[in-house]
Amino acid sequence: MADSAREMLIPIVGEVTDIRRDTPDVKTFRVVKSDGGGVCFPHMPGQCAMLSVPGVGEAMFSITSSPTNTEYMEFSIKKCGHLTDWLHEMDPGQDITIRGPYGNAFPVETELKGKDLLFIAGGIGLAPLRSVINYVRHYRKNYGTVDIVYGARSVDDLVDIDEIRSEWAGKDGVNVHLTIDRAQEGWDGNVAFVPDYVKQLGFPTTKTALVCGPPIMIKFVLKALETLGFSMSRVYTTFELRMKCGVGKCGRCNIGSKYVCKDGPVFRCDKMDELPDEY
Ligand SMILES: Cc1cc2nc3c(=O)[nH]c(=O)nc-3n(C[C@H](O)[C@H](O)[C@H](O)COP(=O)(O)OP(=O)(O)OC[C@H]3O[C@@H](n4cnc5c(N)ncnc54)[C@H](O)[C@@H]3O)c2cc1C
Ligand code: FES
Repeated sequence: MADSAREMLIPIVGEVTDIRRDTPDVKTFRVVKSDGGGVCFPHMPGQCAMLSVPGVGEAMFSITSSPTNTEYMEFSIKKCGHLTDWLHEMDPGQDITIRGPYGNAFPVETELKGKDLLFIAGGIGLAPLRSVINYVRHYRKNYGTVDIVYGARSVDDLVDIDEIRSEWAGKDGVNVHLTIDRAQEGWDGNVAFVPDYVKQLGFPTTKTALVCGPPIMIKFVLKALETLGFSMSRVYTTFELRMKCGVGKCGRCNIGSKYVCKDGPVFRCDKMDELPDEY
């Protein structure tokens, strides 16, 4: 086994130093290496880590912090089961174990370099794209225009809204387009599902799009981009399907001939032969 593969399998003990509530069911956890501080391992935007708590469970999560941040790693985690329920009850100062990095990354140093970028996210789907967005903001001169379309069911479900408003929107030529599914008191922004809003905004097809959200959103965003004339070779997406073995053996995470754990989670859409079932 290659050294890098062996290192990926060795759990590292991480201390959770900060927990912030983003939405009613999403919290963002800041983790540093217990032994010496800093990040547990280097990663690239789009990659994931396996977080575990002995006796509770383990699961894969996108690393939402940018690799340009070497002080800590962050994970935005939706409460939905054994491990995530436990994590949502924990206090800062406690340890977890962490393995990684897993999966491929968005091609920020190759195909995306110099391109006009369009990020499209729904709900917790912002987590992997936040890593790319902050990487692109860090190396801003290496990329063209940046547009971010982000939507959620309600204002309360918009993850990282403080950072979006104070650090992204209108800074360094970054355009943010927020939307929520249904009108709500106190919200004077756009109201529409993300795919409809993408069509309304009507972006030029010279942009390269990066999409993440629930499968049903991804499906309709891809249709919207096709309607606008986008070639699927200019569209990337990342999937958060259920995984078990994590090494391409159990068939739990397959989409057609591809396995999210082995071939992804990031895919260029012209290379996909089908999309996952909607949930
Ligand atoms: C590559 C990748 C990246 C991910 N990134 C994130 C992230 O950044 N933030 C985040 O909150 N989650 C993310 N997930 C999803 C996360 O791994 C699962 O939600 C995980 O099951 C939670 O563990 P648990 O023990 O709390 O839930 P469990 O107790 O295992 O399951 C809870 C419930 O959710 C269902 N379920 C579990 N996983 C999924 C899924 N992926 N899709 C649909 N239903 C599911 C189960 O059937 C069950 O009903 C990611 C998954 C993958 C594969
Ligand atoms: S998780 Fe087993 S094949 Fe992908």
